[in-house]
This record gives sequence, C-alpha cells and structure tokens, in this order.
Amino acid sequence: MGANRRIPGGIRGVMTAAGAAALALAACAPREEASVLASGGGGGSGGGGVGSLEKYALERDLDPDEARAAIETCTPPGKYDEFTMVTSGGHAGSIFLIGIPSMRMLKEIPVYSPNSWQGWGQGAEGTDVLKAGTFDPDLPTTTWGDLHHPQISLTNGDYDGEFVFATDKAAGRVAVVDLRDFKTKQIVKTPNVVSDHSGFLTANSEYFVVTTFQPSPGGPGVYAPLEEYAQKYRGAMTLHKFDRASGRIVLAESFQIELPPYWQDLSIGGKGANDDLFFCNSMNTEMSIGGNTEGRPPMEIGASLNEMDYLHVVLWKRAKELVDANSPKVITRGGIKVVPLDVARDEGILYFVPESKSPHGCDITPGGEWIMVAGKLDPHVTAYSVAKIRQAITDKNFEKRDAFGIPVLKYDACREAYVEVGLGPLHTVFDDQGNGYVSLFLDSAVAKFTLGPPYVPADQAWQLVDKISIHYNIGHLQTPGSNTTHPRGRYLVALDKWTVDRHPGEGPLHPQNLELIDISGPKMRMLKEVPIIGEPHNSQIIETDRIAGWRVYPPGTDPATMAKAPAATEQGKEGVERTKDGVHARIVVIRSQYKPDTIRVKQGDRVVLDITNAESAEDATHGFGLAGYNVTASIDPGATQHVEFVASKAGVYPWYCTEFCSALHMEMTGWLLVEPK
Ligand code: CUA
Repeated sequence: MGANRRIPGGIRGVMTAAGAAALALAACAPREEASVLASGGGGGSGGGGVGSLEKYALERDLDPDEARAAIETCTPPGKYDEFTMVTSGGHAGSIFLIGIPSMRMLKEIPVYSPNSWQGWGQGAEGTDVLKAGTFDPDLPTTTWGDLHHPQISLTNGDYDGEFVFATDKAAGRVAVVDLRDFKTKQIVKTPNVVSDHSGFLTANSEYFVVTTFQPSPGGPGVYAPLEEYAQKYRGAMTLHKFDRASGRIVLAESFQIELPPYWQDLSIGGKGANDDLFFCNSMNTEMSIGGNTEGRPPMEIGASLNEMDYLHVVLWKRAKELVDANSPKVITRGGIKVVPLDVARDEGILYFVPESKSPHGCDITPGGEWIMVAGKLDPHVTAYSVAKIRQAITDKNFEKRDAFGIPVLKYDACREAYVEVGLGPLHTVFDDQGNGYVSLFLDSAVAKFTLGPPYVPADQAWQLVDKISIHYNIGHLQTPGSNTTHPRGRYLVALDKWTVDRHPGEGPLHPQNLELIDISGPKMRMLKEVPIIGEPHNSQIIETDRIAGWRVYPPGTDPATMAKAPAATEQGKEGVERTKDGVHARIVVIRSQYKPDTIRVKQGDRVVLDITNAESAEDATHGFGLAGYNVTASIDPGATQHVEFVASKAGVYPWYCTEFCSALHMEMTGWLLVEPK
C-alpha cells in the first residue's frame, strides 16, 4: 500500500493548481471583475491559460458556483480520490464504493445477491457463503438481501479499513467483507429473529451489534398466533462476536438480549467511559399488529397512537457477565445464549427513556456526550445526555414502568437540549467544528446546528445555523469519520430516496441519488450529484489510503479462506483425474489459455474443477464462463476457484474467458464434453 497510491490533496490540493485557483477566484467574483482576475492572473496556468478556462465555463453555461464546484470535485485522470465512501446497495444486496470528491463509482461488492461479473454465488465463489447464510435451510436459498448500514471495522474507535460489516433488513442476517480483497467472507443468519435493521460496532470491533425490526415469536419456522403478539413475540439485540484473526463472526461466543415486541430501529454504542451502554430507539410501543382487512387499524395508524416511544438503554456488560458466568438465568435458544426479557429487567440491563413518537435516528456525538434522536413526526432533534441517563438509572428516577415492567426514566431528567430543525428530521452526523447535520425527509433538506460545549461556546450552543435543499427526500447522510471519535468534516453526502426530475428519464424505475455537499465553510454548498443503483441506505466514509487492499493474491490463494488452496496447481502440474465418484480437473489459466482446455466426462459424472490463475500481474483476472451448467467464476491473479456440479445432460458445452485479458482473449476457450451414458 502507499507507494502506488497517488492522492491529490483533495479540495485544497486541487485548488492550489494555479489555473484552477484563478478560475475559482474568478468564478466567485462578479463577471467583470472575474474577467480582470482571469486575464490578469495569467501566468503558469499551462495549456490554454486561465482566460480560456473561464471561456469553457461560459460555453458550458456554468454559473460561477457550478464552475467552482466542477473544479473542486475534479479528480483528474490517473489520480485517486482522497476519500472512499462505502455505501449500501440496499435491495441490490451489494455494497458500492464511491470516490470522494469525484463521486465516481469504483466498485460493487456483491454480498447477499449473485453477481455475474465477479462470479459471486453462481456455481463458484460465494455459492457456499450464500447457502450457509440462508434465511432457513428448509426453504429455497436466499439470493437477495436488503443491505443496510455498512460499518467499517474500528480500532480504538476509528475506522481501520480492514473489514466492512453489513446488515440485511430483509432476513435478519449480517455479513463480513474483508477489505484485503473486497470480498464477502461470511453471511450469518442471526438466530431467533426474522428481520433486523441497523448495526454498529464496539470500539475495537469486538462485537457487531444488531437489533431486530419486526419482532417474531422466534427464528424462521417458529409460529405463534398474531393475537398472542404481546405474550409470544419479541425483539432482540444480538451481539455478534467478531474474531479478527479469522475474520469471522463466532456464533458460539455471541449472545442475545431479549427485548419487548416494539420495533427496535436504529442503534448506537456508547463511547469511552460509557462504552457499557448501548442505545436503540423504537417505534410501535403500541404493539399494533396491523390487520386492515380484519377490523384493526393499519399499521401506520396503530403504530402512531402514543405521543412517546422508548429510547432503549442497554447495559450490555451486565448481560455479558451473566453469560460469561454461565448463569442459569441465561438460556440457550437457536444455538445462541439468550438473556430473557424478565432477566434483563430484574438485573438492571434494560431501561427506557421517552422519545418523541415514531422517532428515527439514534446517533452519538464524537465525544460520546449526547445521543441525538430525531422526531420524524416532530420538527426537533433532541439531545439526551448520557451522563444524565446514567445518573437517572443510579437514582432510580423513573416516571413509570412499561407493560413488561421495564423502568421508564424521567424524560426531563435525561434531556439536555433540543433544536427545532424542520420537517421530518431523521439522522444526525458530525463535522470537526462542533456542528451536527440532520437530514430532513419531508423538507428535503439538511439542517446544520451547533452542539453544546465543549464543541462550541455556551452562548452559541444548540442553534440552527444553516440549511440546504436536497433532491429529494433524504434518508441517511454521512461525513468522513462521522461514526468515529474524530469526524474529519469537509464533505457531506446526502443519500436520497427519490430523484423525480433530476436525471433524463431512464424508465419508470428511477435511480436514487447521492449529493455531495461542501461543509468546510459557514454555508453548505452543493457540489455534485450522481445517480446510484438500489436504495443507498447508509454509508461510511474513510480516507482512501487507510484501506490496504491487496493488488494480487499470493499464488494459489483460496479467496474463501485467504490461505493456500489445497487444490491450487502450479504450471506443469495440471491434469484431469478420474476418481470413483467423478472427474477432477486441476486447471491452470494464464494468458491466453486454460490447461487442460478439454475435459471429457460421462453423463451423470460429478465434475470438480479447481482453477488456478498463475498470473502475478496486477489486473490480470481471467474468467470461466460455462453457460450450460450455470457456472461463472472470476479468477483473480494468484487465486484458485473451486467449481462443482453434476454433468446431468450429455452434450458439448463450450467455456470461455469472460474477462478481456489479452490480445488473444477471444482464443481463450475450452470444451466440456459430456458423453451420453
Ligand atoms: Cu483470459 Cu480473456
């Protein structure tokens, strides 16, 4: 890493290029003055001179702000973006990597859904991962997901660029992506639940913590009548133990805390000395079950009756102590240790704080002082003091208990401040100058407000200071390092749900939108927008040079294990072998042939192919596409891919290299000959 990464200095680096700076200056000035600046600035701008740069802006009908933004977001050919945004693909089931400030898409990482480019889940790599992580092994293998909340692994509370974790809202699953090769290594079905939403990491990625969305009476296949909702249905907070050495979640060391059947929504961990607290907001404390054709109110009405819902405060280390001590109060269910709801109540593990009804957003300030909750149906963002919450727990300062006997802390005892920001506030992110930025879904805007001391002086605290329009209906938003102990500021990306008229019209299914905003000055400035595929639910933004990806694999690496594949083959040792139960071919690929390129089997044979790419050159990936048996593999330089299928039907099945790898790429083909029985 490092040597071959050429990263410009971002806005400042780009802006110092003489011509660019002159144009930016010119662009900010009134037109007459701009011409003077442009022609007078003259020297050292290189090809064409500054005057001609202004001419190009005028020819393209760019106003000064647009011209300036174009320069500020330009990452020239051959240069790298300063930041990389790891973005949810939503119901595309994948993760997208976007460069900032250029907003260029760098890559798609397939996770929950097959991907033909990377041969993911299509008879080669990923097929076992999808199968092992399926919703229910008795049902068809799950080949889609709704990927929310990508989380970059943390070391000491800062992004370390080693792994990305993600949730699947659809099936209650979690996934681990290794950022050495940007591939999904594991999908885990969370036991005892059927859905989830958000997830967050503890300060050193010891746990990936997820909370359920729609409660259930248990995991897949467990039934209880909806009429027994309050008695039988439950939510859960699951602490998935992550073993960094193996890069895998270990269910045997994971545990779950049972929660009431409210819809636990967004969640976040405490920081520093308060890292024993987890926070999670909720909706539907009414325990509405829907039933709009059965004489009950629709969910959207039934779940919006109470004026307040409950911010959950979970003292998870108390639960862990019970689990570690093998307490008889902890049960095992679905292969995982579970702290039941009554134990969570009696052991002081779970408390509630009232929050405005149907809230959204549960974010923590960089120093861990306040939990920011937005009202969704209330125009405020509310700051809850973590210290006050802790004090209220110690003082048993309760206003009541809920239907399950969980203590509800006094609202006034926990609230620090609230700021009126606009309609439909959702999520809050942070910069490095003491400001919060909250997305406003209904207003289609981002509101900027000041935090309290020590971030800003007391007389400037908790004030709305700026607003910018978004196109349209922003959900999450993100800034570099926002989820760490030191946000970097500078940029904000809005992740928008609708595009309406922003793009030329690509069919009734519109793309969704990402908008890049400059937050380095007192006023937010729109810089750029790009369409994106699938709901870009949430993201995290990291310095590009903090990700130390491999450029090629060590020879014979199995990407599934990142270790040498047992069946990896060197050049000269290729061959086809008939075994008792079929045919095993060890194939070596190198520009521009497969060796062997002819494989003869009999109808009904099990066919096992281990394909090793003997290339060591960067970017020398070869493909293996065999349409008849629905197999495609991407074999990166150094990698070995494993393919297995039964040749059930006789015929001639050509395969070929799907990557345009060389001048003789078209010749890079082979035959699978299946002789009739
Ligand atoms: Cu190998 Cu094309």
